[in-house]
Amino acid sequence: MNILILGSGGREYSIGLALHKEEKHTLYFCPGNGATNNLGENINIKDYNELAFWAKEKEINLTIVGPEAPLTEGVVDIFKANNLVIFGPSKDAARLEGSKVYMKNILKKYNIPTARFIETDKFEDAKSFIDTLTAPIVVKADGLCGGKGVIIANSKEEAEEAVSDMLSGSSFGDAGLKVVVEEFLDGYELSMFAICDGDDFILLPAAQDHKRIGDGDTGPNTGGMGAYAPTPLVDDELYEKVKQRIVRPTLDGMKQENAPFEGVLFIGVMVVGGEPYTLEFNVRFGDPECEILMPLLKTPVSELFYKGATKDLSNLKIEFLPKFAVGVVMASKNYPYSNSDAAEIIVDKIVDNDLIENSHISYAGVTFEDDKLFATGGRVLVCVGLGLSIKEARDRAYGLCGQVHFAGKKLRSDIAYQALR
Ligand code: AMP
Ligand code: GLY
Repeated sequence: MNILILGSGGREYSIGLALHKEEKHTLYFCPGNGATNNLGENINIKDYNELAFWAKEKEINLTIVGPEAPLTEGVVDIFKANNLVIFGPSKDAARLEGSKVYMKNILKKYNIPTARFIETDKFEDAKSFIDTLTAPIVVKADGLCGGKGVIIANSKEEAEEAVSDMLSGSSFGDAGLKVVVEEFLDGYELSMFAICDGDDFILLPAAQDHKRIGDGDTGPNTGGMGAYAPTPLVDDELYEKVKQRIVRPTLDGMKQENAPFEGVLFIGVMVVGGEPYTLEFNVRFGDPECEILMPLLKTPVSELFYKGATKDLSNLKIEFLPKFAVGVVMASKNYPYSNSDAAEIIVDKIVDNDLIENSHISYAGVTFEDDKLFATGGRVLVCVGLGLSIKEARDRAYGLCGQVHFAGKKLRSDIAYQALR
């Protein structure tokens, strides 16, 4: 097939790598990064109508959308109007990520477990609800804030201040003009991904992300510093509960709303006392979760995405490798505070057969110039290790990290600790 992948991160690289391994596709990335051009061709067309025109000319058989922005901007609707096959949710369905108020109302309407909440644009309403809660209290801006729109307030006063700053537009502009205030759920967090075709879905093995910059989950939030899957924190019973109580009613509900959900439903799950609660939905793969899930698939990735895009998932028998994957993110010196100077990346020649066969790099914030690869983004790359146990996969991922060098490289040393302690 001729396949177009939208996006430029490690997530998109890992999808490209999995497709490249099938050895039968021609791949295009828009815009891609300094390493995706080893897997296919990078193109740069910003206007989605123009891009659809290009896709028709190139006879693109399947388009896969990585990040949320093109989805909330309606790229899927434009491609479909041009009779192109594209895997991802429509603009309407993408509101599950684009608006926390919309998402919470869907959860409430269809009786899907989530934290008790109020959504409002009035300070007084928020304040009355805050008075019924005990700290910590969670305050969320309605719209997309690049992962920064959630405040965990340690007192009622702090929660009120966060609400007031959001509603006035001073903290997040228009994205904060409506807020969600909710009770704090105290449990452990999972990333779960359902591949959906509007009617049917396939739930992938559960992963855990590591959002804080520092070891032991300290310091500021990031896009994710590492992930592993499958996690032993999920047994068959919990997995079934997520399917029956969260994914199934969400797909049925979205159909009733006339916004059937196609694409990747990313469920941020908080497990409290053995019960799964929906923290949030995203309408795309997580990054770095995608980088560790792609290599665990035995079923060809192209089949999974193509069937997902053509309402044909019920005809797919999904198979996973009986392995674990651990991904360790290497970030730039100043991440997540500010940009860093470009730094040349040197990868040692890997001679250890064990590493050659069971580990690889997924490239993200990199630029290729003068025959050299430079770290130019916040999250630069992910070292992925595979193994028959989490420990084996983790050791291989860190083994590979030791072979990658650039000035200021920053990584956590405890990825997968929750599974190994
Ligand atoms: P969100 O973008 O809604 O997933 O929130 C970002 C992060 O804030 C989540 O990954 C959780 O770690 C935390 N969080 C959000 N909502 C809650 C909640 N109700 N209780 C506890 N932690 C939360
Ligand atoms: N790793 C979490 C995310 O992609 O949002």
